[in-house]
Amino acid sequence: MTPSTPSKVSQSPLAIDVMSGLKQDPKSLPSKYFYDAKGDRLFQEIMHMPEYYLTNAEYEIMDTHQKTILDTIGRDTFDLVELGAGDGYKTKVLLRYLVEKGIDVRYCPVDISKSVLLELENSLKADLPDLAFHCLQGDYFDMLGELTYRSETPKVILFMGANIGNMPKKEAETFLARIRETMSPRDYLIVGFDLKKDPEVILRAYDDPAGKTAAFNLNLLTRLNRELGANFELDAFRHWETYDPMTGATRSYLVSKRNQTVTFEALKWSVHFAAWEAINVELSQKYSIDDIHELAGTAGLTPIRHLHDKRKYFVDTIFKKKE
Ligand code: AVI
Repeated sequence: MTPSTPSKVSQSPLAIDVMSGLKQDPKSLPSKYFYDAKGDRLFQEIMHMPEYYLTNAEYEIMDTHQKTILDTIGRDTFDLVELGAGDGYKTKVLLRYLVEKGIDVRYCPVDISKSVLLELENSLKADLPDLAFHCLQGDYFDMLGELTYRSETPKVILFMGANIGNMPKKEAETFLARIRETMSPRDYLIVGFDLKKDPEVILRAYDDPAGKTAAFNLNLLTRLNRELGANFELDAFRHWETYDPMTGATRSYLVSKRNQTVTFEALKWSVHFAAWEAINVELSQKYSIDDIHELAGTAGLTPIRHLHDKRKYFVDTIFKKKE
């Protein structure tokens, strides 16, 4: 895509976020911009790599704890609202079980992307023809608010895939507290957290030998070249991953291999990188069960059940609203 008129491009959310992130010291870029068409494709590949244990662990949880989930909910009519549904790979295991058990469930996937929802809609029709569903395109909180306002049906809200880990802890607290505001006392919330574990296992998941995660992160620079007219040279940056076992913070950086200046033609703006200066591009926070309880406490939620995979790499926690 050729960037449109400079003034329009420079006022886009992407341009504003990129300029503010790269003007900071230390520099950062928001990981939400990883997901252009190529980024989506690379992320799909990452999710199916053996090193990226998160997907299989959560799939296993949905597969082995379906009955516990249903027994905990204790209802035969509810809306299952999924925030950021993606391809529904893991959710479909649970949905299939609910349909087979004759539960009156309506699946409501919420996503900002129209194309994600269209693809999901087609796959749901093919894989689960008896399932009632209603796709909601838009902001999570707008859509949750609308559902709460329009329907009396109890809700089970799903936020899976360790997506909460991409938020700093304070942001995660606010996010959960906002979800809580949309919940009634009979609603449930299920959140997927990646757990603290052997640092080597974590680092391998985010620094895989095939270099898919590196390509995924570097693709952000390609996106800035294309959409903001920047001139990043990809081989002048390298992917670097760290895990801090004290805090559970797993961070991805793009490190400048040399002293260089990058120009954003569409923004009429340049930014300097010193040799070995890093850009913080992603946080993937790992939690302990105690951390989850602490987070729940500040967000006004009560954890009522922790569902694990066999290796205890991952947990899906079921919450209720704290009274
Ligand atoms: C989407 N999110 C939960 C992924 C994660 O594990 O933080 C994104 C990702 N980044 C690198 N690999 C996967």
